[in-house]
Amino acid sequence: MPHSDGLLWGAIADLSRFAALLTMAELGVADHLADGPLDTDELARRCGAHAPSLRRVLREAAGIGVVRSAGANGYDLTEMGTALRSDVPGSIRTSIRTLGEESFWYAMGNLPDTVRDGSSAFVTKYGNLYERLAANTEMGRMFDTHMATRAIPFTEGLIKRYDFAGVDSLVDVAGGRGHILAAVLHANLDMRGILFDLDRVTDLARELLAVEGLADRCEVVAGDFFASVPAGADAYLLAHILHNWDDGDAVRILRNVRRAMNPGGRVLLLESALPDDDAPHAGKDLDMRMLAIFNGGLERSREEYASLFQQADLELAEVIELDAGASLLEARAV
Ligand SMILES: C[S@@+](CC[C@H](N)C(=O)[O-])C[C@H]1O[C@@H](n2cnc3c(N)ncnc32)[C@H](O)[C@@H]1O
Repeated sequence: MPHSDGLLWGAIADLSRFAALLTMAELGVADHLADGPLDTDELARRCGAHAPSLRRVLREAAGIGVVRSAGANGYDLTEMGTALRSDVPGSIRTSIRTLGEESFWYAMGNLPDTVRDGSSAFVTKYGNLYERLAANTEMGRMFDTHMATRAIPFTEGLIKRYDFAGVDSLVDVAGGRGHILAAVLHANLDMRGILFDLDRVTDLARELLAVEGLADRCEVVAGDFFASVPAGADAYLLAHILHNWDDGDAVRILRNVRRAMNPGGRVLLLESALPDDDAPHAGKDLDMRMLAIFNGGLERSREEYASLFQQADLELAEVIELDAGASLLEARAV
């Protein structure tokens, strides 16, 4: 059997593993196991599940390593499984629920149709993602939490590796609930921030920034980046924004940022810049989701980002590789 066959069967098995994790996340299994092992019948009763079915999911989950057998008919959470609890920092439960949500699942399952005619099967069935999130508060909250969780590894790198000297004011353009901006402000005590996003998320952002003790250093502004962005800041962070849009829309957003920024200002683009080789890369995985969910959304190479910058009178100045396949691309006004 060629070596690649193992990888291919592994990719197929990943579907079963994800479905088992999704079931655990939906049923809150890890939360029920937080205080110690439980007999499967008792666990099923607490989760509102069918015990024989849950037992099979737990057997698969033990193979993944998130639970382990405890006694004749019970299971206990492992250290890895703790990340599935709702109440731990960096909990992955909401990310799993978001990616397993009906429309996201549909998008990936219907990728062949998307590729056949080049238009997103997700958009055809469910419309634009951000309109869907605005109309469906629970899904919107899950998505925003997922964004905050997935940003943890590259936000740490951004703070440690980027030199924010000279940036007294920073606008986080489409910053979601303000997770990246909050971390940057905590690390740069003299900096002021503006969190800018659609009004579907700004009330929550205001609440969370206040909880972080940042209300006096951070303004929250609702708006549409295709119309304008808040003017007069030293730097504009766009984290995983342009990858949702085709080149024409991406340049429109960048031009609005270019128009708004202070003389000598900079654009900090956080994206997964694709390498020019055949190696696996987190950005290539993410690109499948962009292809599936958006009409025109895509991951780009640093040369492609440089070209977008050029069309908005900006110039790529520096690229810093961060964790989890993310890159920071800094641009300055031409
Ligand atoms: C992929 S999320 C990125 C969130 C955050 N920057 C991060 O990296 O975690 C995209 C964000 O763009 C916002 N957004 C979408 N369309 C927008 C628009 N027309 N104007 C302003 N924000 C928009 C969404 O509400 C969402 O918070």
